[in-house]
Amino acid sequence: MQQNNQKDSETKEESVESTLSKEEISKLADELEIDKTTGIPLLEDESIESLKQHKIPTYLVDVYNWAYVKPKNIDLLDRPIVYHTILFAQGWKLMRAYLEEFKPTDRVLQVAHVYGNVVRLLAEKVAKNGSLDIIDVVPHQLKRAAIKLKGVDGEENIDMWLQDASEPYHKQYDVIGIYFLLHEVPDPLKKRIIENALKVIDETDGKIVFIDYYNPSFFNPVRQILRFINYTLEPFANAMWNREIKDFITKNRASKYNWKQTTYFGGVYQKVVVTKKKEEAEVAKETPKADDTTIVKPQEAPVSKETTSS
Ligand SMILES: C[S@@+](CC[C@H](N)C(=O)[O-])C[C@H]1O[C@@H](n2cnc3c(N)ncnc32)[C@H](O)[C@@H]1O
Repeated sequence: MQQNNQKDSETKEESVESTLSKEEISKLADELEIDKTTGIPLLEDESIESLKQHKIPTYLVDVYNWAYVKPKNIDLLDRPIVYHTILFAQGWKLMRAYLEEFKPTDRVLQVAHVYGNVVRLLAEKVAKNGSLDIIDVVPHQLKRAAIKLKGVDGEENIDMWLQDASEPYHKQYDVIGIYFLLHEVPDPLKKRIIENALKVIDETDGKIVFIDYYNPSFFNPVRQILRFINYTLEPFANAMWNREIKDFITKNRASKYNWKQTTYFGGVYQKVVVTKKKEEAEVAKETPKADDTTIVKPQEAPVSKETTSS
């Protein structure tokens, strides 16, 4: 398995051709506080100053420090039992719904590490005949992913690096998976993350798979529990109740894609699979560059809906 500290494939190619001696690399690793075996930055110092230095976004430090940033807490929480408990025992169903969207030959980007078995099962499905890239903005989260993926068939086709999901993606993928990330980021970042992924689809005719919270039906007892959790712990999650995922981007942009939604557990969760509309793909191929300035009248993007039994 390869691991890189920085983002794009160009950086990776450069490092292959590096002429630095072992001693120089070791010195550099010390200066950058990088773990020499995994290549991932160390984050043992949990002071706010250190977190800022590692470019951990403010909202993560302010709101989710206890859950996703402090290494000791990550080690404690990253267990299947925690994953299944916080998802009201719906974790297996959601994981199956997610994994069925990937084919063994797919080139996949997993946007952000997920607690429990999700990334391991995804790797078992795609790493051997396709490929798997994983990005996360917290170094210790990547370490956890690296531990889970050790020994998986196709380990050499797995790559991971530190990246904020709201920064552009530099490679092309068949499928981009975004599993319970949107509800944890502020709305402007939701928009940027969705747009980043759409850009990659534009180039490949691939798809995006979102699994996230939705809007629990009024009579669902979980509704009140989640309302309380959102109020106390998850300030960015309420937006998922009030808006469709496509509503975080402009109507004009959204109208170019199919947004196929399936809901689970009485509306508590949703899967949304985004693909480019065929006619849009054809138009993009045929339209000369000069037409780029044409103003297209915004239209409502249809959302096809399915509900599974809860
Ligand atoms: C994908 S969510 C998964 C939440 C889910 N509840 C779970 O059980 O894992 C959590 C992950 O997202 C990462 N994350 C949060 N904001 C991010 C961002 N802007 N860019 C990349 N990763 C981010 C966190 O570091 C953490 O590893």
